[in-house]
Amino acid sequence: MTPPPTSASNGQSNTHAAASSSRPNNNSQTPSTLTDEQLATLAADTQAFTTPLELETPLSNEEMGAADHQLCVRCTGIPFETKPVRGYDFNEGINWEKIVDSYLTSGFQATAVGRAIDEINRMWRLSDEPIDPNNPNEILDPEVRRNTKCTIFLGYTSNMASSGMREIIRYLAQHRMIDCIVTTAGGIEEDFMKCNGDTYLGEFSLSGADLRKRGINRIGNLLLPNDNYLRFDDFIWPVLDQMYEEQQNGFKWTPSKFIDRLGKEIDNPDSIYYWCHKNNIPVFCPAITDGALGEILHFYAFEGTPLNIDVVPDICLVEKIAIRAKRSGMIIVGAGVAKHHISNANLKRGGADYAVYINTAQEFDGCDSGARPDEAVSWGKIRPEATPVKVYGEATLVLPIIVGRTFARAHQELLVAAKAGQTVQSTTSVQEKKQVSIKHVTTKQAATKQAAAKQNTVPGQLSSAMHAQAQSGHSKLRAK
Ligand SMILES: NC(=O)c1ccc[n+]([C@@H]2O[C@H](COP(=O)([O-])OP(=O)(O)OC[C@H]3O[C@@H](n4cnc5c(N)ncnc54)[C@H](O)[C@@H]3O)[C@@H](O)[C@H]2O)c1
Repeated sequence: MTPPPTSASNGQSNTHAAASSSRPNNNSQTPSTLTDEQLATLAADTQAFTTPLELETPLSNEEMGAADHQLCVRCTGIPFETKPVRGYDFNEGINWEKIVDSYLTSGFQATAVGRAIDEINRMWRLSDEPIDPNNPNEILDPEVRRNTKCTIFLGYTSNMASSGMREIIRYLAQHRMIDCIVTTAGGIEEDFMKCNGDTYLGEFSLSGADLRKRGINRIGNLLLPNDNYLRFDDFIWPVLDQMYEEQQNGFKWTPSKFIDRLGKEIDNPDSIYYWCHKNNIPVFCPAITDGALGEILHFYAFEGTPLNIDVVPDICLVEKIAIRAKRSGMIIVGAGVAKHHISNANLKRGGADYAVYINTAQEFDGCDSGARPDEAVSWGKIRPEATPVKVYGEATLVLPIIVGRTFARAHQELLVAAKAGQTVQSTTSVQEKKQVSIKHVTTKQAATKQAAAKQNTVPGQLSSAMHAQAQSGHSKLRAK
């Protein structure tokens, strides 16, 4: 029997109906019974999907010419100033400084590292600018102009203190190369813990259950024995007792004052915060309770002696530092709270003038950690005319290279010149143009004498006058 006509047979395109009705029926073994009209429609429909390939005829000159045109659109010039890509040539020997300098022209994240180095070396000082003859308040003293510098905010995640980056951060604080620190609770407590016990190298793959049984905590491929926490307890408990007593006498604690007190009490030059205390570098930790410090404060309160640590004066202080900064630079290693807190403070001054981010975070999920500098420009956290740099990279690989080619390089040049009793022409970008006369400053003097630190011309160091201005609130709060 002939089946009733399908819609395909009505002249309408219904390939699926036609195709399915053309399948043999496996159950009944009945052959397909399409009409001639249906078969013709099916053939026409099928043709709509498959244009036969014409491979026999050779390509014409016109066809080849059109293809060539597609292949090579003539270059009309690169629309901005740039450099050719060049990597390091090891035929020149192994010169680590030149290797790092070749990053800038190597492409990808090596170029980002090179740009971050340039951005930090450009961080401003007043002597970079011509004297404004129309400004009656213009500072004319060349020494003061040279020492009036960009206020540098350094931010880092807790794991930086867990890792070997702690020594690099300590160096920056020791030589007063940065003006203000923001970190998270682990970034505070692990620095102090390391004064009384080591963190060890381990493996990412070590079994958590096994480590737990052994009283060892894992941070990536680092191992932190529980004993270090116990020793930290021994150190901090008497300090908390003193703090409580002072609180009972009316002293108001903030996270920055708490960290400063710990830095004073630790009395160990291996510690970042020992140097921050010595050099009056305020350290902010808005999330101070999210770590062992929080646990300790909980236990301490449980004993019936709650310490009140107020975050509000600290937000006022960090923003005051940003507002009063003549120029502001951010160096943010890792992301999270440290990144946002610094950027947010800079919002109050219309944005940072310089910024370097080093992190692994991506922006596709909308997280603040992964936000590129341009997002911060949209909020007013970085000035639109700034040339900020984000390095997508793991910080332990990147930070030593950047510090080595910026702060440490300038410091080294000054030390060498000072030893020789010479005047030095610094080779950092920011100092290229001018002669800097050096007074004899040894590392030890720089560390122990505020006066010596004042003479140091490492980029980013604040003059004592400006430092005093930026820190006045902090010192006053501490003195209360
Ligand atoms: N050792 C520790 O990490 C430790 C110890 C105690 C408490 N905590 C607490 O854990 C919480 C979260 O830590 P956090 O806010 O410091 O940061 P985090 O470890 O959560 O990192 C935040 C972001 O920073 C970036 N980042 C981190 N490490 C990086 C690296 N090595 N290289 C490049 N980018 C990196 C990543 O994008 C990451 O998502 C904090 O409250 C902290 O106090 C951490």
